[in-house]
Amino acid sequence: MADVTRWGILATGKIAHTFATDLAVTPGHELAAVGSRRLEPAQAFAQRHGAAAAYGSYEELVADPDVDVIYVATPHALHLEHARLAFEAGKHVLCEKPLTLNIAEAEELVRLAREHDRFLMEAMWMACNPVVLRIAEDLRSGRFGVPRHVHAELGFRVDAGPEDRMFNPDLGGGALLDMGIYPLTFAHLMLGPASSLAAVATLSEAGVDLDVAVTGAYAGGALATMVASMTAWSSREASIATSLGRVHVPAQFHHPTHAFFVPADGEPERIEGDGPIIGIGYGNEIAEVGRCLQAGLRESPLVPLDRTLLLMRQLDDLRRQIGVRYAADG
Ligand SMILES: NC(=O)c1ccc[n+]([C@@H]2O[C@H](COP(=O)([O-])OP(=O)(O)OC[C@H]3O[C@@H](n4cnc5c(N)ncnc54)[C@H](OP(=O)(O)O)[C@@H]3O)[C@@H](O)[C@H]2O)c1
Repeated sequence: MADVTRWGILATGKIAHTFATDLAVTPGHELAAVGSRRLEPAQAFAQRHGAAAAYGSYEELVADPDVDVIYVATPHALHLEHARLAFEAGKHVLCEKPLTLNIAEAEELVRLAREHDRFLMEAMWMACNPVVLRIAEDLRSGRFGVPRHVHAELGFRVDAGPEDRMFNPDLGGGALLDMGIYPLTFAHLMLGPASSLAAVATLSEAGVDLDVAVTGAYAGGALATMVASMTAWSSREASIATSLGRVHVPAQFHHPTHAFFVPADGEPERIEGDGPIIGIGYGNEIAEVGRCLQAGLRESPLVPLDRTLLLMRQLDDLRRQIGVRYAADG
């Protein structure tokens, strides 16, 4: 591996732009190329973000010898297909969340990574955020007392047509997979694996979940309540009630810049991460990929594939409970 990690961005949608903006401020990383289904958006993207090469197909992108790692930024329903392209071309992969639509696809993607001996990580940037890591570590050490209840909610009104990926079942639409994955992952990071989860949801006419509420039970009797919404502006905050007080994670809880511990009998204490937030936080995920690649790792200890698969099984189970099925489910 060269000292600089050379990225190829696959797709030119909303998150691809945000990611490229953070990539530009992450030391040791450069945008080598971008690929789109059409050449024009790829060229516009390359010009805006300073990519050396622009391609009018994903196949040409993954074939570029000056690219080390592909960032897959297409809708979830296409992640398996596009990550497969990258592996077959010998590239490492950072794949947007959720890794795939269901556990069968996720297991296939992990199998492909291992078959091709390539690095694979789900782009769960929250798990690379220094403030989230600090809270989880201090919680484990007992510094905040015994955690009894996690609450996390992520919701914003999505104003888009029925063809948009968020509403389109063919592209894996729905609040649970797009947003609910964050509260679920947050509760897992703070409390460990859930022993049981239950969900209720409001579905659209097309059959995707617009609003979903999940309750979870965890080791030692701890509980979690988690909400995701495409119809309403929730607080986008999280809190952890403990035997000594409360950890408050202000918006945006999935990429916080700081948090507070509010003891029951004392002054609030500010919680900072051990290192800087790079960009708005995608830079920390980018840096983690670079660190793993430099060390020759095939998965990240911060976002292990076993945890990604476990969360994917939970998402499948919750979708069964609320009656959301995708064509890929068979
Ligand atoms: N980590 C985060 O914070 C975060 C935030 C938002 C979204 N995401 C994830 O990132 C992924 C993309 O989300 P997004 O909001 O960027 O979506 P988006 O704006 O709809 O962009 C998706 C891009 O995928 C490409 N694409 C290829 N085939 C497509 C098809 N059949 N229909 C639509 N697009 C197609 C298109 O790029 P070209 O036209 O260039 O080929 C399109 O611009 C999702 O999996 C989502 O969960 C993550």
